[in-house]
Amino acid sequence: MGKIDYHVLNENHLSLITKMLSECAPLKYAQSDTPETLQKYIEQGQLVLGLFDNNELIAYAILSMRMAEDLEEFFQKYNLITDRKEWGHVGTLLNCVVKDEYRGYGLQKYLIELRETVAKNSGYNEIFTSVHERNIYSINNLKKAGYKQCGRHHIGGEWLLFGKALEGPTCFVVQD
Ligand SMILES: CC(C)(COP(=O)(O)OP(=O)(O)OC[C@H]1O[C@@H](n2cnc3c(N)ncnc32)[C@H](O)[C@@H]1OP(=O)(O)O)[C@@H](O)C(=O)NCCC(=O)NCCS
Repeated sequence: MGKIDYHVLNENHLSLITKMLSECAPLKYAQSDTPETLQKYIEQGQLVLGLFDNNELIAYAILSMRMAEDLEEFFQKYNLITDRKEWGHVGTLLNCVVKDEYRGYGLQKYLIELRETVAKNSGYNEIFTSVHERNIYSINNLKKAGYKQCGRHHIGGEWLLFGKALEGPTCFVVQD
């Protein structure tokens, strides 16, 4: 693996992402993005970050910024159960996919850190994400990065909600 560069992806990169996804084995614990879902994220102003090895796209990850008022609708839509009462504006880590042969080199960890930095620099103090309960690599990475479980939901399987305060004391409810 050479020097890894990262770039913000836009409409012009959609075919690169779909090509990368078509070269990956079917995703077991993540929903596969389509040009339509990706286009929607980009139109909504969500951040799609790509990692490149020698101009080849080898991973991408999405960061969505949610306002407190949008969260309620989001939680209802996904039947999310959390003990947490108050939510401010939070960043959300959405899909992250690393090309098969690049897995195990810390790229997901790197993409978590990059998105946290962007969220923090955009004034967001908290971040959360939802992960399939069997996605051990992602769960381990999140725990190592300081995320705590703060809820769960059921949508085609059991999903766990993990959250982290980007600065100051965490107010996420921990459910071990
Ligand atoms: C989940 C996923 C993003 C992890 O990406 P990754 O870059 O390989 O993850 P990292 O290298 O940062 O960390 C993986 C951890 O699992 C370990 N691991 C062991 N075998 C591994 C393997 N075959 N593949 C990946 N990780 C492996 C790594 O060593 C590392 O642990 P460590 O820090 O203790 O060494 C990647 O497997 C993937 O794209 N999966 C399909 C899509 C998906 O499920 N996305 C997650 C949505 S939340």
